[in-house]
Amino acid sequence: MDKGVLWGVGLCILLVGYGVEVKASHHHPYRKLQSLPTDQEQPYRTAYHFQPLENWMNDPNGPVYYKGVYHLFYQYNPHAAVAFYISWGHSVSYNLVDWIQLEPALNPSEPYDSNGCWSGSITILPGEIPAILYTGINLENRQVQNLAVPKNLSDPLLREWVKSSYNPLMTPVNGIDPEQDLTPLFEMNLPSTCSRQVSMVMTTTFWEITRPKQNFLVDTDFLDGGFDFRYDYGKFYASKTFFDSAKKRRILWAWVSESDTTLNAIRRGWAGIQAFPRSVLLSRTGQQLVQWPIKELEKLRANKVAFNDMELKGGSVFEVSGITASQADVEVSFDLPNLNETEFIDPNWVDPLVLCPKGASLTGKGGPFGLLALASRDLTEQTAVFFRIFRKQDKYLVLMCSDQSRSSLGDGTDRTTYGVFINLDPRERKISLRSLIDHSVIENFGADGRACITARVYPTLAIHKEAHLYVFNNGTQSVRISSLNAWSMKRAQIVPSEKNGK
Ligand SMILES: *[C@@H]1O[C@H](CO)[C@@H](O)[C@H](O)[C@H]1NC(C)=O
Ligand SMILES: *[C@@H]1O[C@H](CO)[C@@H](O)[C@H](O)[C@H]1NC(C)=O
Ligand SMILES: *[C@@H]1O[C@H](CO)[C@@H](O)[C@H](O)[C@H]1NC(C)=O
Repeated sequence: MDKGVLWGVGLCILLVGYGVEVKASHHHPYRKLQSLPTDQEQPYRTAYHFQPLENWMNDPNGPVYYKGVYHLFYQYNPHAAVAFYISWGHSVSYNLVDWIQLEPALNPSEPYDSNGCWSGSITILPGEIPAILYTGINLENRQVQNLAVPKNLSDPLLREWVKSSYNPLMTPVNGIDPEQDLTPLFEMNLPSTCSRQVSMVMTTTFWEITRPKQNFLVDTDFLDGGFDFRYDYGKFYASKTFFDSAKKRRILWAWVSESDTTLNAIRRGWAGIQAFPRSVLLSRTGQQLVQWPIKELEKLRANKVAFNDMELKGGSVFEVSGITASQADVEVSFDLPNLNETEFIDPNWVDPLVLCPKGASLTGKGGPFGLLALASRDLTEQTAVFFRIFRKQDKYLVLMCSDQSRSSLGDGTDRTTYGVFINLDPRERKISLRSLIDHSVIENFGADGRACITARVYPTLAIHKEAHLYVFNNGTQSVRISSLNAWSMKRAQIVPSEKNGK
């Protein structure tokens, strides 16, 4: 269950009881950067996925839109690229693309959070007062709940936060493992005022659609075959959503962890990125959650390359040249002729994670076809993101995969392959893929955002100008690319507040 929902409820109760009284917190001085690493030294730093200028980051916390400013807080170690001395890092933005990194909002400073200011959420209280509720790990290594509020409500950047003198507000009660995360011991009721036809229950990993008085009713077609409902079937953790009141949309953030060694992270001087913010919507059928990168990303697009109505013969590979393939946004839509002649799926093939690495044995009339991203010219390094269409009774099933087995010639990288099944309405006769390629991350949105897979990769050859992008079809019959649009992406600006005339 989303902690944010619980915190919202809990906080109202707490504040009625306690009132809000606060005292000054102690900020550790913010270390200034000596010099930023160059691109050549840092082939894995992302250009438009948010990451702090240095050091460790994990979960997004308390994303909020307040007085014209987007705030992103995150679990952050201001001192090193490892998970230690956890603070609340804080960055602000006017467009969700470019960011100003401020000093941490909360640092461990008190007996109740001396072992870290861990995850939490922000709630806007009556009177437009934002409040942070966070888990502190205290001197005795117990998890306790704490409150902080802004020092100066007129400051739209909310630079300084003060911890409540009533902290800790909650301590583990008898019978609860004090080192365990506090999870509900009760069930959340859906709000009784819910008047919409459907509502969505969103946890940090899964989503479900519910209807008033019919909890957890979902499209059973999707459950057939053991599908679950993850936001993302790759690296995508500890998600948080917030409502963007300026643009009337719900936005999803999530941490995308590193997939190589801690030693490499220490050498690079940083670890952890955020997924690009996604709008979350209901599909037209009302049965399915759909995710799509927020539109603001498009301002970074440059140098468009486009193809229309192009046949991709079975067994062919075709380079998409003319863009920076290490820093790109790619949208491709495939037409699927003769779907009725594709093979029936082997009834034993139920697990995408077992199927996706099958390589040549997957070859058939319906693919595999898709993209080879962050590929070296000789294709020894490549991340294949592909579809394979199967028949299942009178329906069609699409296997979507992201294959990391050849993503890097380096040692110590996680090569796990990811996959998911997508139900295809035979009348659609097409399937689309959008890939956000950004040096060491590829975020994939299949079937107009109905299935997402995010991968971290560390190519050694396919970096900077040596990275290439291909479309391929390893199936035995042609597929038609109805359209392919690819853009080089400009770099988002992420600057420390000192550089921003503060
Ligand atoms: C509070 O913030 C406003 C707006 O940034 C600023 O003008 C004012 O000086 C601040 N007040 C204090 C006491 O710092
Ligand atoms: C598939 O559809 C095409 C066009 O409608 C038809 O000509 C063909 O006979 C069908 N094949 C099968 C195996 O049903
Ligand atoms: C496509 O087929 C070729 C030839 O069998 C093979 O070398 C290559 O690895 C296949 N590509 C993918 C992504 O499976």
